[in-house]
Amino acid sequence: MKPIVHTHDAIIVGAGGAGLMAALYASRGADVAVVSKLYPTRSHTGAAQGGVGAALGNDEEDHWEWHAYDTVKGSDYLADQDAVDVLAKEAIDAVIELEHMGLPFDRFPNGKISQRRFGGHTNKDTGKPVQRACHAADRTGHMILQTLYQQCIKNKVNFYDEFQVVDLIREGDTVRGVIAVEMSTGDFHIFHGKAVLFASGGWGRCWEVTSNAHSLTGDGAAICLRRGIPLEDMEFFQFHPTGIFKLGILITEGVRGEGGVLLNSEGERFMDRYAPTIKDLASRDVVSRAIYLEVKAGRGVNGQNYVHLDVTPETVNHYFKQDGYADRSITREYIEEKLPDIADFTRTYLGVDPVKEPMPVQPTAHYAMGGIPTNADTEVIIDANNTVLTGLYAAGECACVSVHGANRLGTNSLVDLIVFGRRAGMKMAEFCSSAELLPLPEDSAAEVMAEFDRLLKSDGGVKPHDVRVAMQKTMTENVSVFRLQESMDQAVVDLKELREKFKQVTVEDKGKRFNTDLLETWELDCLLQLAQVTAVSAAARTESRGAHARDDYQERDDENWLKHTLCFMKEDGSFELDYKPVVIGRYEPKPRVY
Ligand code: FUM
Repeated sequence: MKPIVHTHDAIIVGAGGAGLMAALYASRGADVAVVSKLYPTRSHTGAAQGGVGAALGNDEEDHWEWHAYDTVKGSDYLADQDAVDVLAKEAIDAVIELEHMGLPFDRFPNGKISQRRFGGHTNKDTGKPVQRACHAADRTGHMILQTLYQQCIKNKVNFYDEFQVVDLIREGDTVRGVIAVEMSTGDFHIFHGKAVLFASGGWGRCWEVTSNAHSLTGDGAAICLRRGIPLEDMEFFQFHPTGIFKLGILITEGVRGEGGVLLNSEGERFMDRYAPTIKDLASRDVVSRAIYLEVKAGRGVNGQNYVHLDVTPETVNHYFKQDGYADRSITREYIEEKLPDIADFTRTYLGVDPVKEPMPVQPTAHYAMGGIPTNADTEVIIDANNTVLTGLYAAGECACVSVHGANRLGTNSLVDLIVFGRRAGMKMAEFCSSAELLPLPEDSAAEVMAEFDRLLKSDGGVKPHDVRVAMQKTMTENVSVFRLQESMDQAVVDLKELREKFKQVTVEDKGKRFNTDLLETWELDCLLQLAQVTAVSAAARTESRGAHARDDYQERDDENWLKHTLCFMKEDGSFELDYKPVVIGRYEPKPRVY
């Protein structure tokens, strides 16, 4: 059967915060389609809990330049500083805009948007934590989604929900649209347009324990990779320090922002030793490593692979006094009001009441700092010379601008979505106003339809589940919080074998309607490729920087490695690496001190 063709000016893949913000802005000057495998308000942006950073200075002094400095320092100097300036400066206006759209932010008693402390966000003069995270209880991402979705509906954006995008139509140096499977029928559709934006999220599902939803399989990044676009800085994958033990579900950093502390089996607040100034609010790479080292030293709670996160008022008030915040104290009611979702999660999943007892937490695979390379206007670039692929854009977690460098600060994911989603929308509307709709190439869907047909008919007997488990195991053992040459090399070998094995997978459901067995198998191929790019990029980088911490190369090496990785996939499925310089601005790289 021939694919069904839809034509719109701008095609947006993904309905999370970046996709919706882009859709809203693009719809002011173009006819926009949002194509999403999820119903929009189920997108993973909804899982971002603690806040969106913006230097509003609503309760204490703050400046966007301080936000930019923290972001660059947190990135271990790998972020491009021109793009970071855009992020920190435009965050202020973007948050106020969301407020005016009706986002129900919490308020300070003076009526201004409430802001809490978050990891790595500091007062540049004192080095102490600053209140920069604007929040709606601990449901900030959820509220962003709801607000933007309502605005998009009002603006008559066309939504194609539960359509899974499986290919990009690229013809030489132009893009003409995307191909999607309609999940309810199994039919193929072509979305023909002048401009395409990928805002399709991350790929935490490469690891065993992750905060990411099942849908986070890196489809957009893998599609671009297959269509000749390199992926940037893929070795940098963030482990959030506080996932629920074994389950990985996020416990927001906002808990520590409200005063919560991490304790080892001896009841010691161990972050005093690892980051004496900023302590539990050090950036995520630092805290994740500290937890890992505590567990390794035998100080995991109950001899297990976790530590305690304690936000009980008794403990918090004790440490407030010790840290010199004698004027601060919290109550159980305050926690219930500011952190209702995490209280609900831990009661439901663990039977632990966080206002009465500590929560068991461990680092959880959380966020891709790398991804589809773009410039600060979200245009996709395809080589080390920053050549733009006309008409193709990327924003949000799947993109690498790069504003997060080697380690992202908490709250900057939501900032990234709204700032660069907005820029993407404006840029696409501008492009569509003058660009021609180029014709669709003959049989543009033939290749991907043949791949789905192969997957459906393949009877090699290998279970996709077994391949997925093996991939997650090798990534967890070998490309995790700490890394070694031989372990990363092992992952490269394992993943190569798994990709061969994947050729023999058997999909049991042979039907067309809601064939999630088939679609998840296709997603597994995306994950395998992204895992391999991650391992290959990591194995080559012989230094420690941000989330890429090596036991065998413990120092940051600016002389040789102050550069971005670009990883290309060749015709035969193997990989080639190239590098491009980091944009340095006001902040010369120096050692990170906490
Ligand atoms: O901890 C959190 O609330 C997560 C936020 C983020 O990843 O930025």
